[in-house]
Amino acid sequence: MSAPFRVALSGDFRKPDGSPVYPDFDLEPLRQAPSVEFVYLEPRNPMEADQLKDFDALILLAHRFTKDSIHPNGRLAVVARFGVGYDTVDVEACTRAGIALVITPDGVRRPVAVSIITFILALGGKLIAKDRLTHEAAAGFTKRGEYMGMGLVGRTLGSIGIGNIGAELFRLIKPFDMKLIAHDPYADPKLAAELGIELVGLEDVFRRSDFVSVSCPLTPETRHLVNADRLALMKPTAYLINTARGPIVDQKALTKALEEGRIAGAGLDVLEQEPPGAHDPILKLDNVIFAPHALCWTDQCFAGNGAADVRAVLDVQHGREPRVVVNRDVLETATWKDRLLEFRKRFAA
Ligand SMILES: NC(=O)c1ccc[n+]([C@@H]2O[C@H](COP(=O)([O-])OP(=O)(O)OC[C@H]3O[C@@H](n4cnc5c(N)ncnc54)[C@H](O)[C@@H]3O)[C@@H](O)[C@H]2O)c1
Repeated sequence: MSAPFRVALSGDFRKPDGSPVYPDFDLEPLRQAPSVEFVYLEPRNPMEADQLKDFDALILLAHRFTKDSIHPNGRLAVVARFGVGYDTVDVEACTRAGIALVITPDGVRRPVAVSIITFILALGGKLIAKDRLTHEAAAGFTKRGEYMGMGLVGRTLGSIGIGNIGAELFRLIKPFDMKLIAHDPYADPKLAAELGIELVGLEDVFRRSDFVSVSCPLTPETRHLVNADRLALMKPTAYLINTARGPIVDQKALTKALEEGRIAGAGLDVLEQEPPGAHDPILKLDNVIFAPHALCWTDQCFAGNGAADVRAVLDVQHGREPRVVVNRDVLETATWKDRLLEFRKRFAA
């Protein structure tokens, strides 16, 4: 009988008492899979090569995976990130070593799109302010007329980016009868047309939208893409929503715009520095709704990420290409092709 396909889970998937950090991550399919063994590693950050020398696959939470995490024996074939961010992984080192890096857009698509809608509804409906009023009892009730919300019909939702999450946002918001615009230099115009989205220039998103939502990746090109000049183009009644990455927004400029009432408010799941300093002036503002980079964290999001990772790992075990590989170059290398062939012979027969 051939040796099992061995899967490592990074040590941060378990609490110090040994219980799982995210119990919604269902490991049963791995447990039930023939010829598969899985093991939680000791928590080491960054991950160390010695820990990984006897494994074919790694499911990776938040620990860093660097060039020094790769054992020279060349056994590890796939790193499956739990989520879609991979700034903790040395992608080039993976490619050089013939390791495929997999992410889980299927797990986050709906939960993050729902987070953006949560911000739209809460900001437009002035939910937090009205919650505070109610806590003030009679005094709060007398002030409620000062907190008129913004109805959504015919209002404009603009997204920067219409990829996995941005497109899902537009799919879900359809029944609200808003006007949909977006800027995405790499967008598929056919997809935009199907979703009823008008593709516009970047500045137009800021000028025309009642809600500007950021759903692009953080790259050198998008760092501080939301800056003072662009915030100045926004209507004073408009809201900015960022669920993508903090540094896409120049937070000092945003803080100033919010302090001066130049825009109506913001919904921020991400900040330039996470966690923020306790004295960060943005935290003092009452026209911002915050979440600690966790608004999308639900049982279903974590179950979805886990299921996608398990599927990817079992695909590799059976010699199939996993669905969402970041470093697609690796798929053309002889090392990778030989590995898949070998797995197919051992496990897919
Ligand atoms: N808050 C969270 O917990 C959370 C969870 C998952 C993802 N995210 C973040 O959400 C963002 C979107 O994720 P996704 O899965 O939709 O990614 P994606 O890669 O599927 O889509 C990103 C889109 O942005 C577009 N884009 C690239 N450069 C652009 C630019 N300069 N201007 C406008 N558009 C540009 C791309 O063409 C693409 O269509 C990412 O920043 C990701 O890190 C956050």
